[in-house]
Amino acid sequence: MIELKQLTKVFTAGGADVKAIDDVSLSVPEGSIYGVIGSSGAGKSTLIRCVNLLEKPTFGQVLVDGQDITRLSDKALRQARHNIGMIFQHFNLLSSRTVYDNVALPLELAGASKQEIADAVLPLLELTGLGDKRESYPSQLSGGQKQRVAIARALASKPRVLLCDEATSALDPQTTRSILALLKDINKQLKITILIITHEMDVVKTICDRVAIMSYGKIIEENEVEQFFLSPKTELAREFVRSAIHEKPITDIESRFSPEPSEGARPVVRITFVGKGIVQPLITKVARQFNTDFNILQADIETVNEKAMGFMMVEIVGEPEQIEQSLAFLKERVQLEVIGYVG
Ligand SMILES: Nc1ncnc2c1ncn2[C@@H]1O[C@H](COP(=O)(O)OP(=O)(O)OP(=O)(O)O)[C@@H](O)[C@H]1O
Ligand SMILES: [Mg+2]
Repeated sequence: MIELKQLTKVFTAGGADVKAIDDVSLSVPEGSIYGVIGSSGAGKSTLIRCVNLLEKPTFGQVLVDGQDITRLSDKALRQARHNIGMIFQHFNLLSSRTVYDNVALPLELAGASKQEIADAVLPLLELTGLGDKRESYPSQLSGGQKQRVAIARALASKPRVLLCDEATSALDPQTTRSILALLKDINKQLKITILIITHEMDVVKTICDRVAIMSYGKIIEENEVEQFFLSPKTELAREFVRSAIHEKPITDIESRFSPEPSEGARPVVRITFVGKGIVQPLITKVARQFNTDFNILQADIETVNEKAMGFMMVEIVGEPEQIEQSLAFLKERVQLEVIGYVG
């Protein structure tokens, strides 16, 4: 639905060139919710602004629904933008207009009649849970309500794509959850493809189907969200995953812990798996079969893109050969990584 090909954006500031986007190619499947995550300054906002040409790429192509929008005339671009809604961290509402009039604005600008506007706006206010707020002004709304208005306004021109730049970053955790649930709803009900830029892995975990990580203007890793959580490949991806599963440092064995193996030291492994109630029977079986013991240091079930995923940290105790056999057996059945040893 959205395809970026060799996208590059260079800013010239104070005589120096900044390559904010460096040869990025990515493909957002129709109907998906696609997350782009990265640290501050990675180029995320620039990337998403290139998708509706708020920022003009220095090089490369931006295809939306098969159309290369970098080649359109101004008039054709205005038309193409009706297909692309956008919401921001700071809502960008007009303070002098009511909720209804804010949502109506894009339709007014497009020359719609009063009746056409009412027919479009009222269902959107219902969809976004603002039915009783239509005559309120932005200053009378909470942050979450303001973002709902911004979402309704972005949907007014019936776009096929919704771009979200840090749409929940100014909101508290509970409001964030409700806005994410609304975005998922919109994606399912209206079949809108959503591209989300965020620095919060929780956003990716909660609603995205696919995710890309950006670092210094490049996409360094890209995957289906579940696979991304199961086996992150780059160090940055591993850091983001650990933050999302709230993994804690293993303080109770810290003094005996070493990343390197040594004589008689026992491995500490991180086990990741999809589904509930899978790993406990597996561990019991391995323990029996190979006569090893499992000391569970941490265990957690998280919901990743609506599926249960388990994350566990265990110390395996036993004879070296039996530990090896246990590891080999487990590796064939779950995602497993030896993170260190305790003596
Ligand atoms: N208009 C501009 N002129 C010059 N440099 C810019 C401009 N906009 C962005 N940059 C630079 O491009 C790089 C990427 O910025 P961008 O805003 O895309 O990052 P980001 O990933 O969205 O960061 P954050 O998470 O802080 O919002 C930064 O180094 C930034 O300073
Ligand atoms: Mg940004």
